[in-house]
Amino acid sequence: MIVCSCNVIRANDIRAAVRRGCADSDSCYRAMGCEFQCGGCRDMADEIVDEMLARPRDEAAQAA
Ligand code: FES
Repeated sequence: MIVCSCNVIRANDIRAAVRRGCADSDSCYRAMGCEFQCGGCRDMADEIVDEMLARPRDEAAQAA
C-alpha cells in the first residue's frame, strides 16, 4: 500500500526503516533519502511507526 504519493513510499518501506532503527516518521523518510513534501501522509506514517514500535520485536519482523 502506498502511504506517501509524493515520495512513493509504501507501508512496508516505513516498517523496514523502523526495523533498521528509525524511531519516528521523519527519520524513516530521511533514511530513504526523502522528506515530507505536502505532509498529507504524516498521520498515516506516524501510525505505522507507532504500531511497529508497540509490537514485540518478533511480531514486528513478521509484519514485513
Ligand atoms: S503524500 Fe507524503 S509528503 Fe505528500
